Amino acid sequence: MANNDQDQFKKVLSHAKEYGYVFQSSEIYDGLQAVYDYGQNGVELKKNLREYWWQAMTQLNQDIVGLDAAIFMHPSTWKASGHVDAFNDPLIDNKDSKKRYRADVLVEDYCEKYLQKANKEVEKAAKRFGEDFDAAMYRETNPRVMGYLKQSKEPVELLAKLLEAEDLAGVKALIEELEIADPDTGSKNWTDVRQFNLMFGTKIGASADTATDLYLRPETAQGIFVNFSNVQKSGRMKIPFGIAQTGKAFRNEIVARQFIFRQREFEQMEMQYFVKPGTELEWFEVWKERRMAWHSSLGLGSENYRFHDHEKLAHYANAATDIEFDFPFGFKELEGIHSRTDFDLKAHEEHSGKKLQFFDHEENKNYVPYVIETSIGLDRMFLAIFSTSLVDETLEDGSERTVLKIPAVLAPVKAAILPLLKKDGLPEIAQDIIDDLKWSLKVQYDEKDAIGRRYRRQDANGTPYCVTIDHDTKEDNAVTVRDRDTMTQERIAIKDLKVYLEKRVAMSEWLRKI
Ligand code: GAP
Repeated sequence: MANNDQDQFKKVLSHAKEYGYVFQSSEIYDGLQAVYDYGQNGVELKKNLREYWWQAMTQLNQDIVGLDAAIFMHPSTWKASGHVDAFNDPLIDNKDSKKRYRADVLVEDYCEKYLQKANKEVEKAAKRFGEDFDAAMYRETNPRVMGYLKQSKEPVELLAKLLEAEDLAGVKALIEELEIADPDTGSKNWTDVRQFNLMFGTKIGASADTATDLYLRPETAQGIFVNFSNVQKSGRMKIPFGIAQTGKAFRNEIVARQFIFRQREFEQMEMQYFVKPGTELEWFEVWKERRMAWHSSLGLGSENYRFHDHEKLAHYANAATDIEFDFPFGFKELEGIHSRTDFDLKAHEEHSGKKLQFFDHEENKNYVPYVIETSIGLDRMFLAIFSTSLVDETLEDGSERTVLKIPAVLAPVKAAILPLLKKDGLPEIAQDIIDDLKWSLKVQYDEKDAIGRRYRRQDANGTPYCVTIDHDTKEDNAVTVRDRDTMTQERIAIKDLKVYLEKRVAMSEWLRKI
């Protein structure tokens, strides 16, 4: 991570704690690694984000319905899905620092560094050559840029082949050949690469001899697959249709150092879209576009997103891409979109002995549908929003402010209601306004400190609007509404306030941007 990025990441961590967004789990006992709690603001942001995804899936699409399957599932589920045998990460330890890393991530980070170097060279050249500069041509002809680009591609391609062939000795040799060092200490003294299963095991039942071994689900998707027929039949769903689910998933992540990016207990928002075999690659493209449109609607900036098509396809997929986001530690996976063929439904048919098929009246036959999956981590999306929204600004008068420019639709508190003074009937008017707004909007009362300090506090909290009640309010029945991002102020009649705010923060308004 560059120094700037490291500083920004540190700021994100401390701001998240200071403003009640994210706390270390069991902090008073020194915490639990890679497990986090969401505070009074964090829980609201997370809830709004989940709701924004949920409504976009199940309300805007007539052919997508929801599901809430249990976290505990029959153990055969995980045999059928392949998780018992193949849900592994290739791990490597550094013998000097005793730190453990994912071997594939070390190689991917190495390649990303070269990609960044190439991009920097192109940026420098663009500045040097001015308007006529042809960036694409420069990438293809400048020897230094070409060298960097080669280093950004070839090692990951080789890695994909080695992992495919389960050649772990080859992965270690690649790390040594690239001279990849421990990112923390610079040591190149590595152990062999080993596979490590990520599922948490537990037991259900009263006594040790009758207890059944279970797993905490490592993904929500399997709850959808095993319920395919239940939902299809009870909902009279016709192909193509989708089932959406949000919920907790658990993975014994070994390398978990990036705050809420990689946790052991996290939340997923997954949707499986069941289609006619042979149409899956068209639907894959449709869902790539739809998911990117959902992200774009939040306005974090298109430069922060990119697609990364998989070189190595999982055994069940015939197309796969990640939507990557520019986190403070670089571009990383935010969401996966996979064309999963009929692998999961067929595997559950085999293991359960039950049919998971659809009778297509047009074709007059039964078939096992193919599946397009979209899968996004709620916590990762939270981090994407939070880290991009946190900015320090120098204002025209030279003063500074920290502002959390969370998209208004997701902000924990939509408006702060601020009487200019704690007297002269202004708090009572504020209370009347709260009583009117609270039915549809989460608002917060604040009367402490001078108004300027209260504005700053709400800026740092991410509150998009401040509503100030002053002495003129008693005369004109109007309030001053201040916009968090532009800091412009408008006088609005109290009777129009609810509609004014709803137009700017309501989910129904933002969903229209998709
Ligand atoms: N059903 C497919 C599936 O689970 P995945 O790529 O393993 O695919 C999907 O996970 C998404 O879940 C990822 O893109 C990421 O956003 C999120 N995710 C995965 N592991 C995570 C972890 N340990 N902590 C936080 N989010 C995670």
